[in-house]
Amino acid sequence: MIREANINDLDYINQILEYFKQPPLKEINNKILLINNIGMIFYQYLYDAAELYYIYVEKDFRNQKYGGKLLDAMFSDCQSKNIRTIFLEVRKSNLKAIKFYEKYGFKVINSRNNYYHNPVEDAFILEKKLGD
Ligand SMILES: CC(C)(COP(=O)(O)OP(=O)(O)OC[C@H]1O[C@@H](n2cnc3c(N)ncnc32)[C@H](O)[C@@H]1OP(=O)(O)O)[C@@H](O)C(=O)NCCC(=O)NCCS
Repeated sequence: MIREANINDLDYINQILEYFKQPPLKEINNKILLINNIGMIFYQYLYDAAELYYIYVEKDFRNQKYGGKLLDAMFSDCQSKNIRTIFLEVRKSNLKAIKFYEKYGFKVINSRNNYYHNPVEDAFILEKKLGD
């Protein structure tokens, strides 16, 4: 049920990017896994690490572990490529997402002042070591 996104998913992907106030994609240039009509995870490999950019679950489907399933799919994919560490940034006010990430093994390792715009806000940097 989790599958890799393709060019036919661009409309859906761009709807979600709009939620994150990001410009639309014209092509798929990152790793994007999705569950039809439920959610998506968007990340990139960076040498022996990976960066998680966005994870999104449709409102009606939240708190039913779909977010966890998307994360697990990313973790397995990264492990199969010998990636040991995953990083992400999150708005300090997004307590729900922070709790979610901590539940799945991420730890706050640092923060960045005024990292976000629109509105301006600090970020926490979180890290997960795969295999932990
Ligand atoms: C963050 C998000 C992806 C989580 O997806 P989800 O499918 O609801 O998450 P899961 O059901 O797998 O995990 C639920 C866990 O998240 C945490 N969580 C979820 N909702 C929460 C809330 N309202 N308050 C506190 N913790 C919460 C809890 O740890 C919960 O585990 P528990 O039910 O055992 O207590 C989803 O809420 C979402 O799409 N949010 C909007 C987009 C966003 O903010 N993305 C993250 C920044 S990129």
